[in-house]
Amino acid sequence: MAGNRTLAIIKPDAVASGRSGAILAHLEREGFVVRAARLVRLSRAQAGAFYDVHRGRPFYDELVSFMTSGPCLPLALERDEAVARYRTVIGATDPREAADGTIRRLYAESKGRNAVHGSDSDENAAREIAFFFPESELADLAAT
Ligand code: RTP
Ligand code: MG
Repeated sequence: MAGNRTLAIIKPDAVASGRSGAILAHLEREGFVVRAARLVRLSRAQAGAFYDVHRGRPFYDELVSFMTSGPCLPLALERDEAVARYRTVIGATDPREAADGTIRRLYAESKGRNAVHGSDSDENAAREIAFFFPESELADLAAT
C-alpha cells in the first residue's frame, strides 16, 4: 500500500521571492497536512548529501550551489498516497513542461530553480523526512 508521507522542500528561490506562503496554501488546499516544518540554510555538505543520488551529473554542482544560496523550508507532509499526489500537484521538473495550475508552472523560474522538491518514492520519503526531522518532532495530528 502506498505510504502517506512525503518530504517537500520549498527551495531557496521561492523562499527568497516570498512565495512560501502561497505554496503552502496551495498544498493545504490539495489536502496535505504539515507534520513538521523548519526554515534552514543548508551547508554544501548537507545539500550534497541530500542530493547524493545526483552526484556526478552535469547539474550537480549548480544544484548544490542553488540549494545553499539561501534558506529553504523543508516540510514533512501527510495525506493518502502522499508521494504520487504531491508530485502531481508540483508538476514536471522543468516548469515549461509542467501542467497548467501546478506549483512549478505557477511559481518556478527554470528547470534548475524550480521552487520545490518532492520525494520520488515511499522509501526515499522516509529517508528524506529523517534527514531533516527526528520522528519525535513530527507533530501528533490527533485533536485534543
Ligand atoms: P526534486 O528531486 O528536486 O524534487 O526534482 P525532480 O525529482 O523533479 O528532478 P530530479 O531529476 O530529481 O533533479 C533534482 C533537481 O536538480 C535540478 N536539475 N537541474 N538544469 C538541469 O538540467 C537540471 N536537472 C535537474 C532541479 O532543481 C531538480 O529539481
Ligand atoms: Mg528528484
